[in-house]
Amino acid sequence: MKNTRLFEKSVNLIAGSEKFAECKQFIQHGTVTIYEHSIAVAALSFTIGELFRNVDLESLVRAAVLHDFFLYDWHVPENMWSLHGWTHPVTAAENARRFFGISDKEYSLIRTHMWPYTLLHPPQYPEGWIICLADKIVSAQETLFRRKWRRQVYKPK
Ligand SMILES: [Fe+2]
Ligand SMILES: [Fe+2]
Repeated sequence: MKNTRLFEKSVNLIAGSEKFAECKQFIQHGTVTIYEHSIAVAALSFTIGELFRNVDLESLVRAAVLHDFFLYDWHVPENMWSLHGWTHPVTAAENARRFFGISDKEYSLIRTHMWPYTLLHPPQYPEGWIICLADKIVSAQETLFRRKWRRQVYKPK
């Protein structure tokens, strides 16, 4: 990651808030919380985004941090047997709009992050493809090894 300051500034505006801190209560994969998972996806997305010209890094980071901002435990039986895999991108995008005033583009980046699971909703922007890829890499690592992608790269102040 080259532009660490931009990354930290963009992440901190969201991850440093009380509302987003609620994600620390919920597990995503293995022993990894949604809070940790989201920041790991944001860090990897940012690192990939820096490889390309014309990537909107601020929107990329904001959407990556908020991509799983659905605020419930999907492991409890009621939610496990629900359509969580298909519905949570919309729930996260709606929550992100409500609490963080995201743009329409950022809404789309969150809405499409589960593709191809959500087959009819592929990413509409390059940043969407980056988040989609980063989420799958981080999720696979967390699911297989039941631990963090790597040492927490960033701790909000
Ligand atoms: Fe997700
Ligand atoms: Fe995710």
